[in-house]
Amino acid sequence: MKAAVIDRFGGPEEIYYTDIEKPVPGPDEVLVKNIYIGVGKPDYIMRSGICPFLEVKPPKLVVGNECAGIVEAVGSEVKGIEPGMHVCVNSGLGYGAYAEYIAVPQKFVTVFPDAFPLKYAPGFLNYMVAYALLNEIGRGTDGKSIYIYGAAGGVGTAVIQTALLQGIEVIASAGSQEKCDYIKSLGAHCVFNHKEQDAKEVIMDYTKGRGVDLIFDQLVGKRFASQFEYLADFGMIVIYNWLEGSPELDQLDTIIKQSSHASAVRSFSFHIYDDKPERLAKIRKICMDRIISGEIVPHFYMDLPLSEARKAHELMDGLKIMGKLILHVEEK
Ligand SMILES: NC(=O)c1ccc[n+]([C@@H]2O[C@H](COP(=O)([O-])OP(=O)(O)OC[C@H]3O[C@@H](n4cnc5c(N)ncnc54)[C@H](OP(=O)(O)O)[C@@H]3O)[C@@H](O)[C@H]2O)c1
Repeated sequence: MKAAVIDRFGGPEEIYYTDIEKPVPGPDEVLVKNIYIGVGKPDYIMRSGICPFLEVKPPKLVVGNECAGIVEAVGSEVKGIEPGMHVCVNSGLGYGAYAEYIAVPQKFVTVFPDAFPLKYAPGFLNYMVAYALLNEIGRGTDGKSIYIYGAAGGVGTAVIQTALLQGIEVIASAGSQEKCDYIKSLGAHCVFNHKEQDAKEVIMDYTKGRGVDLIFDQLVGKRFASQFEYLADFGMIVIYNWLEGSPELDQLDTIIKQSSHASAVRSFSFHIYDDKPERLAKIRKICMDRIISGEIVPHFYMDLPLSEARKAHELMDGLKIMGKLILHVEEK
């Protein structure tokens, strides 16, 4: 079968398209014939060799962690999944998705109703993350407005669409005019270029001095504490990654000084739901229904053939992606 693999960790140039053995499912595994494959940050982490839990190493290591297709076969111990079903794989193994077929343990497979367009399955997780951020993680604020940095990415797009659907005011920023135009086109109420404009000035001006209720922060780092300057009373900063490392100031000290504003900080990983299947199923159903009904239409940046996986990674590393980038398996 065809696959996009690496022989050593490194940049996008390490990815090449080749023939490898088709996998055979073990007793608790599902064999999926892929149609669409998602390109995302975990693939960058795996490709560059900084994934802490990767158990398999190159050579001929198949890149990718998210794919969708049709079940072709199941192992003897698999329950509730049958050949022909539409599924999405979010491989907790961290590899294996950029291929015509993938065999993974059942726990990594989600069944999608036939009414759900399979093309939207890779990237669907972003909508669950967005729902969780807005409705579960961000609870306890006045919840009228949000600010999201780097909003043109996959998660940012999903947060904007979900917030707008729920009647929440959206302030969003991006690092180029093209990305700002894109998030404006999604309907964000206040959009600015965070490389050219000061967040405090824009947000305090837009909110008439009140500040914003919820800030979604994927950077943290040196600028972390400055966000309290434009957070509304009872507001919260939700950390969902720390691309720029830990804050310089002692976090607790900073929060204590904010007590007259009742400010809060919360950090979030979607792994909170790993041992909460019922709560996860509720979020999944709400998000699936919103897409099936057309209330939310996921946005694609590009749909490239699997043979162009290297180009996809060049775009990702160049921070070019707006919305979701997917690959598709070419028909023979
Ligand atoms: N906590 C969780 O459970 C969870 C779940 C999913 C994703 N995440 C995290 O959410 C973040 C967004 O994910 P995504 O899939 O939307 O990513 P994405 O599509 O690559 O978008 C991220 C955006 O962040 C901005 N950015 C600024 N500095 C960056 C840097 N050093 N590296 C990469 N991007 C940078 C870029 O926007 P500009 O060019 O506009 O600055 C980029 O468009 C990632 O950090 C991811 O790890 C967390």
